Amino acid sequence: MPISGKIIPMPKLYLETVGCQMNVLDSELVVGSLRRHGYELTETTDDADVIFFNTCSVRQHAEDKIYSALGRLRNHKNKFPDAIIGVLGCMAQKDQDLIKKRAPHVDIICGTGQLAQLPTLIKDARDTGALQIALSLDRTESRHEVERSFESYDPMRDPSMRPNRFQAYVRIMIGCDKFCTYCIVPSVRGPEQSRHPEQIAAEVRQLADEGVKEITLLGQTVNSYHHGSSRLSDLLARIHDTAGIERIKFITNFPKDMTDDLLQAVRDLPKVCPYLHVPAQSGCNEILKRMKRMYTVEFYRDMLSRCREIVPDVAISSDFIVGFCGETEESFAKTCDLVGEAKFKNSFIFKYSPRPGTRGHELYDDDVPEEVKKRRNNDLLAIQNAASLQDHRRYIGQRVEVLVEGPSKNAWKLDANGPLQLTGRTRTDHIVVFDGNPRLAGQTMEIDIDDATSFTLYGKVVTGEQIAVGECCEMPVEIGERIALPLIG
Ligand code: SAH
Ligand code: SF4
Ligand code: F3S
Repeated sequence: MPISGKIIPMPKLYLETVGCQMNVLDSELVVGSLRRHGYELTETTDDADVIFFNTCSVRQHAEDKIYSALGRLRNHKNKFPDAIIGVLGCMAQKDQDLIKKRAPHVDIICGTGQLAQLPTLIKDARDTGALQIALSLDRTESRHEVERSFESYDPMRDPSMRPNRFQAYVRIMIGCDKFCTYCIVPSVRGPEQSRHPEQIAAEVRQLADEGVKEITLLGQTVNSYHHGSSRLSDLLARIHDTAGIERIKFITNFPKDMTDDLLQAVRDLPKVCPYLHVPAQSGCNEILKRMKRMYTVEFYRDMLSRCREIVPDVAISSDFIVGFCGETEESFAKTCDLVGEAKFKNSFIFKYSPRPGTRGHELYDDDVPEEVKKRRNNDLLAIQNAASLQDHRRYIGQRVEVLVEGPSKNAWKLDANGPLQLTGRTRTDHIVVFDGNPRLAGQTMEIDIDDATSFTLYGKVVTGEQIAVGECCEMPVEIGERIALPLIG
C-alpha cells in the first residue's frame, strides 16, 4: 500500500516465447510467478520494466530470431538502463558465453530448470547491476532441479497465458534420454524424468476446477512415461474420471514406445482423444540409423498398422527432417513413399539444421546443400498436403464434435454486421472453422462438415443457437489480451 497516497504503478513484464509446447507452458509458469510478485503483462517492450525471451535451440533459425530481437534492444537498454533483459530457456542453457558476447546488455541468463528463481534474479540484477546466471551444471544435477521445479511450479499456473480458458497443458515428464543424433533437446532439457502420478492428478483436478475441459499431457517422448510401475496407460486411466475434463490428449510419442496397452487405453477411455503425434523423421533405414532413432521404417509402418487396428478412426501426425547428413535422392524418395502411403493427418517438415553439441554434428558432414534441402522440403510438403486434403475430404458430409476455441484469426476482418468466424478442434485434432456466436467458446458443439482444404475443415453448427446478424459485436470476447506466442515452425 503506498503510504503517501501516491499510486505506485505495477511493474510491467514483456515476454516473448519461441519453441515447443514445453516452452509455452514454462512461459505460463513464469508469468504466474511474476504476477504473484506484482507484475502485469505488457504487449510491447517500450514500457516494459522486464523483457524476457523464452528461447529455443532446436534449429538455428529459432536462435537467430532471438539474437535479432536482442540486437534491437541494445538502444533501448542505453535509453532505459533500468530495464531488465533476460534470456530464458533452452538457448540460455546452451549458450551463455555466446549470449554474453553477442548481447552484453542482457541482465539475466536463466535455464529451464531454474525459472522458479526469476523473481530473485530480477531483484539481484537490479540491486547489483551485474549479470545474473542460473543454469544447470550438468545432466545429473538437473535431475534434482527438475524434481524441485515440478513442486515449486504447481501453484503458479496462469490461465491468462493459455491459448484459451478451456485448454491447458500438463507436464508429465521432462527432459529426454533418447539422444537422436540431430537433436539438442537432451542437452538443454536434461535427463528424462517422469512426474509423480499423484501430482499430475492433483494438477488436472485443479485445472478442471478452473474450468479447463481439455488437457494435453506433455513430454518429449510422452509415451515413455513411467513412474514406478505406472505407465502412460495407467496415468490416463487414473485422471480419466476427473469431473469437468472432457478431453485428454498427449504429445509427443516415440514410435518404439507405442505399446498395445497405451493404444487400448486410447480405444477404451472415452475422454482420451484418438489423435497420435508419432514423428517418423525419415522413411529410409540408413538415415534412421544415422539419426539413432532405434527403429526401421518397417517397424514404423507396422506400428502405424497397429495404431489403426486397435484404435479405429485414429488420426496420426508426424515430423520429418529433410536433408539430414548423407540423405541421397534415393533415401529422400523413400521418405516420400512413406508420406505418400501413411495417410498422416498432417506432418511438420523441417530442413536439417546442424546443432553444435550433438553427435550428428560431431560425426557427420552437413553435406546436403541448402537449395536441395529447400526443394526436398517443398516436395515433401506437397505430398503431405495432398494426403491431408484427402484425409480432410473424408469428413465432408460427416457430423463431428468440436470444442469451440473462439474467434478464428481472421474474425475481425469480416463484415462487422456479419456472423463471426469461429474455430475449434475435433477429437482427432482437426481444425474446424464455422460461423457462430463467440459465447460458444468452451462449448462442445456438433458441426456438419461441408468443405475442406489441406489445413482446415469448414462446416455449420448443428445444435445450439446460430448467431443473429449484428449480435456478434456486442459480445465481450477475451482475445488480444494474451501476449502473442510466435511458435517456431
Ligand atoms: N521430442 C519430440 C520432438 C522434439 S523437437 C520427438 O522426439 O518427436 C521437434 C521436431 O524438431 C523433431 O521431431 C524433429 O523433426 C525436429 N528437429 C529436431 N532437431 C532438429 C534439427 N537439428 N534440425 C531440424 N529439425 C530438427
Ligand atoms: Fe530430440 Fe529424439 Fe529426444 Fe525427440 S526423442 S527430444 S527428437 S532426442
Ligand atoms: Fe522445445 Fe526448442 Fe527447447 S523444441 S525443448 S524449446 S530446444
